[in-house]
Amino acid sequence: MIHTFKSIDELAVSLSEVVIKLARESIRAGKPFNIALSGGSTPSVLFEKIVSCTDDPGLWEQVNFYWVDERCVPAYHIESNYRMTDDTLFRPLSLSYAHVYRMMGEEEPYAEAERYEAMLRSQLPAREGLPCFNMILLGMGTDGHTASIFPDQMDLLHSGRICEVARHPGTGQQRITLTGPVINNADRVCFMITGAEKASILASILEDRRGSEKYPAAHIKPAWGTLEWYLDQGAKPLFR
Ligand code: 6PG
Repeated sequence: MIHTFKSIDELAVSLSEVVIKLARESIRAGKPFNIALSGGSTPSVLFEKIVSCTDDPGLWEQVNFYWVDERCVPAYHIESNYRMTDDTLFRPLSLSYAHVYRMMGEEEPYAEAERYEAMLRSQLPAREGLPCFNMILLGMGTDGHTASIFPDQMDLLHSGRICEVARHPGTGQQRITLTGPVINNADRVCFMITGAEKASILASILEDRRGSEKYPAAHIKPAWGTLEWYLDQGAKPLFR
């Protein structure tokens, strides 16, 4: 399902309403709502809209927040995905952090990937032997990467692990990332993609063109759940 919006603001309002609705339905049914968040710059607009669209802040005390990936930097480093989320979502909601499970970028990466994997296995319901998130929010880089699965590390899409250590191909920065199988095991995966610089790769992926398989984002195909694309006008695919 592709949703296109005139602006990132309109996109973020619509997606925030979906997140709020799903969280509310889950909690009203007496079930936990387990969501994994991506980093980068786009999600901050969504988080700000979640704050402004929330009329019952207590809702978020019952949501379990996890990450799709994290840069191997301290929690309050300018590049930390946790810091961006804390600044734009948790602190504005005055959240208690009781259900915030960050990837600890300051720890030794391989040990942290193992720790996080073990935590996910112990805290999330399983489906087919893998933790099952209610929702995973993804972005896509201008090289077609998603999570911290980069085009030169495609093996992470089929890893036997749930969490692995990745490396940014440009900077060499290490990252902790969820791998393809656990992302594709979620009930609902939502891409949030903006900007004309991604339109060409996006069209290639959405039209399943030859050559699109080199983009990690092209391999996000939930086995059981739904896949949705939230796009602004700039990113809207240049369909042939
Ligand atoms: C990260 C993200 C990454 C992000 C893409 C798109 O840690 O950087 O998880 O996968 O989603 O790079 O980032 P933008 O939304 O900033 O374009």
